[in-house]
Amino acid sequence: MQRFQTLICPIFGAIAMSIVLGAFQPATAVAQSDEKVVVAHRGASGYLPEHTLAAKAMAYAMGADYIEQDVVMTKDDELLVIHDTTLDRTTDVAEKFPGRARADGKFYVVDFTLAEILTLNVSEGFRIEGGQKRANYGSRFPVGKSVFKMHTLAQEIELIQGLNQSMGRNVGIYPELKSPAFHAQNGKDLGRAVLEVLKDYGYTKKSDKVFVQTFEFDELKRVHDELMPELGIDLSLVQLIGGRESAWMRSEAGVKEIAAYADGVGPEKSMLIDEGSTPGNVKINDFVSLAHANGMQVHPYTFRLDEGQLPDFANSFEQMLDIYLFDVGIDGLFTDFPDRAVEFIRSR
Ligand code: G3P
Ligand code: CA
Repeated sequence: MQRFQTLICPIFGAIAMSIVLGAFQPATAVAQSDEKVVVAHRGASGYLPEHTLAAKAMAYAMGADYIEQDVVMTKDDELLVIHDTTLDRTTDVAEKFPGRARADGKFYVVDFTLAEILTLNVSEGFRIEGGQKRANYGSRFPVGKSVFKMHTLAQEIELIQGLNQSMGRNVGIYPELKSPAFHAQNGKDLGRAVLEVLKDYGYTKKSDKVFVQTFEFDELKRVHDELMPELGIDLSLVQLIGGRESAWMRSEAGVKEIAAYADGVGPEKSMLIDEGSTPGNVKINDFVSLAHANGMQVHPYTFRLDEGQLPDFANSFEQMLDIYLFDVGIDGLFTDFPDRAVEFIRSR
């Protein structure tokens, strides 16, 4: 822990303190609508490298209601906050540990200890083109600049709970179980380990500000039916929905079955509005109504400002938010730009 603090302090101190102090507003002024929640997707990832503590502190200062953690397990069973099960897209692992890739050429978190992972530098997401690192989002924080490190789920919870104390707010957490079946194949019980950490940090009941999310239907059901009863906790659960294979989850029968164990659904946002929609002619389907009729909230992902991310039916980021929040009727959203969503909701 001491080593981690030494590594992260310079960048975290410089960025987080200035942001937190600069953006501070009294608790009463930053209260969000009870009905529309802003989830900072991987932190304020539109501005700082995703899933760094700096990006989480920035999201906190911007007034997000919840801050998201994607969680993957290391070789030594530590819970790492990272989106991918591999280290390739966001770190310098290929330079630091050549020869440690699997046969598919990728470097898996599950093959590295936490101590090894903490030697890596984290950057904005990139791809390799012509032997060079090219940013996936060209207008975001530059790849390879400054110093960012990874951290564990417990360390991030301590950051958020610490800020809750010092700022007088109650910002929630939104951990995702990343690829539980892959973890099981590698001898890891990710779901149980995450729930144990949540319990250790006081998240035990639905009124606590946490949503546990995953794409894997069987695992969320196991969390509800087996793991939470065993641990004596009862948390709010969100079933993520993505990809073409999800048609059943979006059907009436599917929604009813999900509602038997989940408190909400997190669909990819394009699933809620039919193709061919244009400004002034937005074709909203019945999924949100169906979810609401079955007692579930709807928190779609991911709302982005970057070039090429606006749907055809919206002329601006704010118009897109307006349509989804107040015409489609979603209850909250995941965004890489929490400041813009918070400001928009406040203005309404
Ligand atoms: O968890 C909601 C959203 O983050 C799902 O997409 O791939 O960014 O984890 P992904
Ligand atoms: Ca996620």
